[in-house]
Amino acid sequence: MCGIFGYTGKRSDGGSVVVDGLKNLEYRGYDSWGVACKTPSGISVSKDIGKISSVDTKQFSYSCCLALAHTRWATHGGVTPENAHPHLSKDGTIAVVHNGIVENHEALRLELLTKGYTFVSQTDTEVIPYCIEEEMKAGHAFPEAVRRACLRFHGRYAILAMHEASGMLVATRTGSPLIVGVGEDGYYIASDIPAFIEHTRTVQYIDDGEMVETDGNSIQFRDILTGTERQKREVRITWTVEQGQKGDFPHFMLKEIMDQKESIARAVNQDDDAIRAVAEAIRSAKGTFLVGCGTAHKACMAAEYFFSVVAEHHVNVCSAGEFKLYHHFLQPESLLIVVSQSGETADVLEAISVAKAKGAKVLAIVNVEGSSVSRAADYTLLINAGPERAVASTKALTGQMSVMLLIAYALKHALHDGKTLLLETSALINDMLNPRYVERIAAIAAKIKSHEDLYIIGKSWHYPMALESAIKIQEVSYVHAEGFAGGELKHGPIALIETGTPCIALLGNDEVTGDMINNATELKARGAMLIGIAPERNAIFDEWLKTPDAGAAQPIVTVIPMQILAYELAVQRGKDPDMPRNLAKSVTVK
Ligand code: M6R
Repeated sequence: MCGIFGYTGKRSDGGSVVVDGLKNLEYRGYDSWGVACKTPSGISVSKDIGKISSVDTKQFSYSCCLALAHTRWATHGGVTPENAHPHLSKDGTIAVVHNGIVENHEALRLELLTKGYTFVSQTDTEVIPYCIEEEMKAGHAFPEAVRRACLRFHGRYAILAMHEASGMLVATRTGSPLIVGVGEDGYYIASDIPAFIEHTRTVQYIDDGEMVETDGNSIQFRDILTGTERQKREVRITWTVEQGQKGDFPHFMLKEIMDQKESIARAVNQDDDAIRAVAEAIRSAKGTFLVGCGTAHKACMAAEYFFSVVAEHHVNVCSAGEFKLYHHFLQPESLLIVVSQSGETADVLEAISVAKAKGAKVLAIVNVEGSSVSRAADYTLLINAGPERAVASTKALTGQMSVMLLIAYALKHALHDGKTLLLETSALINDMLNPRYVERIAAIAAKIKSHEDLYIIGKSWHYPMALESAIKIQEVSYVHAEGFAGGELKHGPIALIETGTPCIALLGNDEVTGDMINNATELKARGAMLIGIAPERNAIFDEWLKTPDAGAAQPIVTVIPMQILAYELAVQRGKDPDMPRNLAKSVTVK
């Protein structure tokens, strides 16, 4: 939650740089924005509610070599200009932006009130510049004052602070991501790489418990606890600027859905030995646990079927936020597989801590190289989907499922068959995603867009895809969508079906197809408007969307038209699919 971006160096357009760059991080939060620039007359702050994408960058084209900016996803205090970051010290010489939560902010606030500070916002953040100011009053230089202030804060956060007189930029990280971009013309410090990728592809990762200080000419990494210096290596980023851009697509969500023509093949392009080693680790583990949140959790649920059907191997699946419950079952020989697009999800990081506390090994399946999850895990497999900017996760899901299906095949000693299947599936998806197919889905969306309730059923590995389809539709179109296992309907939910209620049945060509047709028929008998997403037409379907037959990769294929349907429902209902209300791309709070 929240995007942070700061710059210091030789450039004189620092204000424009941070505002422009932050437009690439808007997926992290978009209820309000703010910028602080060092100018000859002091620190100038502009902030407001609304999206930073609508801010005219030209207004920051004045000379400024030191600037920081923020897009907010509100946690403490409503969406108001006063609560937007940056927040200033009492004397106005320190500006701070912040991602995460200062959990003990109330106690600090009371203490600061007794020292004469007044608060203009309801945020937890406002205590940060005041605490730094107090440390400076005690005689500490700015970077040391930031370090000492941080020792007082509880919780997981990332802080970026600038100081007018010293011209220093200081960043600290305890749980929320921060990355340094090392440019020829200065230093860029951001929550994520797209903020600065057009300026530099050389990065240094700030680890948890570390801080950096820079005057624009050089940079020092330190341990927050001890203040001792740390050495950092530079890493070259392989993502291109274009991969993170919309191109000719109206929205990132549609672009990323269409990226699946290629991204599945990229996910499958794994080192055979690495996949076999993971399969071996699963085979010898005393219990394998798959965890993730939201869509990544649904990928894990689908993988449970892959491991069962393809490899006849039992794995445990749970939502990362519930993983603590499993700690009694963990042993040093257990294996935790965490799945996350961003690699920054707080509940996933906590699951890793739970496993590590028991001595268990952790494998991360992530999209973002160098992310916190990847750095905390013992091994990482990248899904290579390229940047995913829309809040709704699409190509990351199919990449995650592809990698786990590949592992299931490796577990069966048939890695080559798995690769072949997935590459064939990738070609089938390429054929499927043609303009006529999208138009056909748009026409179905037009028929159902005025309904406020929609039900999706699936059996076996299509059950998690029914749940996933419901998430997609809920988050971007705000239609009340629910996914069910086909057989569950008659245990309650079928009471909700009325004449004309849109219901979607997800089917493959497999051993449960007959049962699913029966379940769909039960809906039809109650008046449902039935949409079948299946390789074969059936007389009970009012609408049929053909999917190619992809064998064990069928759920990967089936979910794609559902992603397009969610997108179309959002657009046709006048919603912005890239920035759904109340959400942010990366959930870094528990
Ligand atoms: O970055 P992660 O994969 O860890 O994110 C997990 C969920 O927050 C994410 O999948 C979320 O459910 C998406 N908005 C769904 O489209």
